[in-house]
Amino acid sequence: MSNAKKTMTVKTIQLGASDLSITPVGLGCWQFAGGVGFSRMFWTPVPQSKITEIVRVSLEGGVNWFDTAEAYGRGASERALAGALAALDVAPGSVLVADKWQPFGRTARSIARTFPAREEALKPYPVDLHQVHMPVSLSSVEKQMSVMADLLDENKIKAVGVSNFSAAQMEAAHRALVKRGYRLASNQVRYHLLDRCIETNGVLSLARDLDVTIIAYSPLAQGLLTGRFHRDPGQARKIGWARRRNVGLTRESLERTRPLVEALERAGAERGAGAAEIALAWLVEKNPGRVAVIPGATRPEHARLNARALGVTLSVDEIARIDGLSAKAC
Ligand SMILES: NC(=O)c1ccc[n+]([C@@H]2O[C@H](COP(=O)([O-])OP(=O)(O)OC[C@H]3O[C@@H](n4cnc5c(N)ncnc54)[C@H](OP(=O)(O)O)[C@@H]3O)[C@@H](O)[C@H]2O)c1
Repeated sequence: MSNAKKTMTVKTIQLGASDLSITPVGLGCWQFAGGVGFSRMFWTPVPQSKITEIVRVSLEGGVNWFDTAEAYGRGASERALAGALAALDVAPGSVLVADKWQPFGRTARSIARTFPAREEALKPYPVDLHQVHMPVSLSSVEKQMSVMADLLDENKIKAVGVSNFSAAQMEAAHRALVKRGYRLASNQVRYHLLDRCIETNGVLSLARDLDVTIIAYSPLAQGLLTGRFHRDPGQARKIGWARRRNVGLTRESLERTRPLVEALERAGAERGAGAAEIALAWLVEKNPGRVAVIPGATRPEHARLNARALGVTLSVDEIARIDGLSAKAC
């Protein structure tokens, strides 16, 4: 594949009913947005050399796909990802790239209009999965899916996904694609041990019925589930207010979630791992074949640890114990 050769063989899952096989752990690339736009309220800019290192250790850990978006720094994340893959000599087609169209204030026609810019930013790596970032377009879901189906017809992409879609919106997207002879491959939603809404709002059960993959974003609750803020609450003051607010990072939430995080740390310690790997593995193992996670990282050491979740297997008892503590902490 490249200089960054895989050092291990890991199991993969099918992305929906598509032909694409993804590792249950991918790499989220919002962190590569370069401090442009709203991203700077969440992440400090990461130098390109470090981005390349993050991508390298992820590949070495077995990760075979990357999630980026037009909205992440208006193309900065896409360019940084492509730059890292190229610097590592990764052959186009040997890894998968999931991209997202930015729908704010736009009609469906802009999916086709902005696609050449996505190709340019990711060049020479193709967009394998193209997703609608949020259900906020000025056009109907049907129209958006019709343009996505055109991209499939033209072999410009291999699968279509949505993100932040409710069960009803997901079903509408799926039906619109079926009319064109395709299927919805994925719905990317927030899903972690402190936010399990998709288990009760119909999204997860519909995903099972339609054979749609759930791509879990913010799977570490933006760091809260790793235990770093519990160990050193002073770290919370160093991160941006938007992220603090997004995660609900307060002294109370740290106390409420402490038993859960301690259980994750205990389960990790038995395997020479940390809370992060267990939090990621729980999402995957609780929903075998249905859920893939895309933790983000601004440090190579975090990306290396997160990829190790690919090798973690939890027992039925461990899954249940964490389940109970998570329900109380939610
Ligand atoms: N579709 C959507 O609307 C949407 C929304 C949000 C995210 N996403 C996607 O999902 C990806 C992941 O979500 P996210 O970035 O919001 O949240 P996340 O993956 O839960 O958290 C990422 C952050 O957690 C910290 N972290 C990661 N691994 C760690 C470890 N092993 N130990 C300690 N700390 C660790 C790092 O914080 P520091 O940087 O402070 O070290 C990292 O930047 C994004 O990159 C993006 O691709 C999509």
